[in-house]
Amino acid sequence: MSASAEMPYFIKPSINLDKVAKRQAYQEAMVAINANLEGATNSVLKMATINCILKTFLPYYYWVGFYTVNKERLEVGPYQGTLGCLYIDFSRGVCGKAAREEATQIVADCHALVPGAEHIACDPNSQSEIVVPVFGKNGELIAVFDVDSTLKNSFDEIDQLFLEDLLDQHFASF
Ligand code: SME
Repeated sequence: MSASAEMPYFIKPSINLDKVAKRQAYQEAMVAINANLEGATNSVLKMATINCILKTFLPYYYWVGFYTVNKERLEVGPYQGTLGCLYIDFSRGVCGKAAREEATQIVADCHALVPGAEHIACDPNSQSEIVVPVFGKNGELIAVFDVDSTLKNSFDEIDQLFLEDLLDQHFASF
C-alpha cells in the first residue's frame, strides 16, 4: 500500500482555530486527559489516550502520534491517522531534527522543506506540523510527539506551550 492523497472515510480535513478558541480547546483537552490518566503509569496507555483526546478536541489534528526512541532511530508508536512511516532515522525529517536537537520544531509549510531529507511525507495531505521531544524521568529522550494538519500554519507557540507542559507532566514528572 502506498501513500495517496485520498483520505480514508474515517479521516477529515483539518479546521484551523484562532488563538482564543485554540487555548480553550487545549484547556478542555487537558482536563479530560488529566482525569482519564490519573494514577496511570503505562506509557503505551498514556500515549494512546493523549492522542485520542487531543484529536477529539483539536479539529486541525489530522495525524497525531508518538515515535519512540530505539538506539539512534525513531520507531512508530501509538498514533491516530493514516499509515505512518515505521522508522525514521535521527538524521532525517522534522521528527529526526526534534530528536537530534531535543527541541520542539514548528513547520508552517511542510512542502517548503526538502522532501526525504528535511521532511518525510508519510502522507501527502500533511501541510504543517509540530514535533515535540518527550523526556523520561531521568531527562532522557524517550520519544517525539508529532502532529500534522492538512492546512498550512496550524501550529504556533500556544500548541508548543500546552504540549511541552502536558508531555512533561505525563512522562518526565509523574
Ligand atoms: N512528520 C514527519 C514524518 C512522520 S509523519 O508526518 C507521520 C517528519 O518529516 O519528520
